[in-house]
Amino acid sequence: MTTDPDLAQATAARRAALVQALSDSGELTDPAWRTAFERVPRHVFVPYFYDHTGRRISADDADTRDAWFDAVHEDRALVTHRTGGAATSSSSQPSVMATMLEALRAEDGVGMKVLEIGTGTGYNAALLTHRLGNDSVVTVDTEPDLIAAARARLTETGYEPHVVLADGTHGHPDRAPYDRIIATCRIGSVPPAWLRQLTDGTGSDAGQILAPLGNALVRVRRTGPLQAEGRFLPGGAYFMPLRHGTVDGIPTRRPALPTGKARRTDVPVSASADNAYRFLLSIVEPHLDWQYDLDDAGRPTAARVWSPDGTIAALHPDGTVTETGPRSLWSRLEEAYRLFTEHDGPGPERYGLTVDHEAQHVWLDGPGGPCWSLRP
Ligand SMILES: C[S@@+](CC[C@H](N)C(=O)[O-])C[C@H]1O[C@@H](n2cnc3c(N)ncnc32)[C@H](O)[C@@H]1O
Repeated sequence: MTTDPDLAQATAARRAALVQALSDSGELTDPAWRTAFERVPRHVFVPYFYDHTGRRISADDADTRDAWFDAVHEDRALVTHRTGGAATSSSSQPSVMATMLEALRAEDGVGMKVLEIGTGTGYNAALLTHRLGNDSVVTVDTEPDLIAAARARLTETGYEPHVVLADGTHGHPDRAPYDRIIATCRIGSVPPAWLRQLTDGTGSDAGQILAPLGNALVRVRRTGPLQAEGRFLPGGAYFMPLRHGTVDGIPTRRPALPTGKARRTDVPVSASADNAYRFLLSIVEPHLDWQYDLDDAGRPTAARVWSPDGTIAALHPDGTVTETGPRSLWSRLEEAYRLFTEHDGPGPERYGLTVDHEAQHVWLDGPGGPCWSLRP
């Protein structure tokens, strides 16, 4: 831990101010998590990050030190690792971390065991360990350099959770079962290994998984062997994907813009920035990338959307769309928009997830409502 008393005092004051702001906004309500955020020094876990231009903003560089110091004490997600120009790890936004930790329903003093998928900087693992203790926390990441750095920072700050270099898709069977599994990277469906590694039990004793799925957070409880059910939480959550290999999950390059004939569409440009509609799309079409043009008020006036198969659609300011590629992506988006408006623009909290041996389904307004199966 830092030995500079001035720095220690300055960072403690800034952490307290952030905690107060998160409490005032209602994002941090549990006194035990409040204390964890006050005590665990995020600046130690994020000694540098990359800004939106890719520039390294570092504590060690006199030109960027002030910007670094401000950023690590603000409610900002900070990119901390890049692969081939794409962001591959970040320190998540503290307000989102607070929401997730509270939603995890972890209790201290009862020997709960938590598995975190996506160690990243180690900051979230430190918060978990602060509250639950060293033996209660296991954290895994696929990146050897991230794991080495996180281990060193955890030791420096006095935390000793189990830090493991592994593909989190497989969980970490050696220390199973877990009362809670928390993923800090986005899943497309619940990996079966996680279900197998959850504590069994009934009702509130059963193991739970909290993970970003699509553009929101889902919390499911084990209901039987390889079975679980739960709901999405309100609000959006934008996380990097769980990778299966070194290149998976890195955003695809935008294909050339479509040149074909424009046709009218009922999907307004504003829908492309509507988080509730985008959540539905993240379930229906999980691998889309988007680009926008914005007006002076920050509203989208045009958008491009493409999928990894090379299909690209451009939505124009006059309400028309052009598209090229191997399939009609835009008609899928139109179909989803019709369903979305017919159901009064549901937010994530109206959706749920049922997992059983054979399939995983996201449903709207109940397991009998409209539903979509997730690809494993
Ligand atoms: C948003 S960052 C995690 C932030 C982290 N919890 C923290 O406090 O800094 C997402 C992390 O998920 C990791 N990740 C992606 N795919 C993974 C996988 N298959 N297994 C384990 N970790 C993975 C990435 O390497 C990245 O570090």
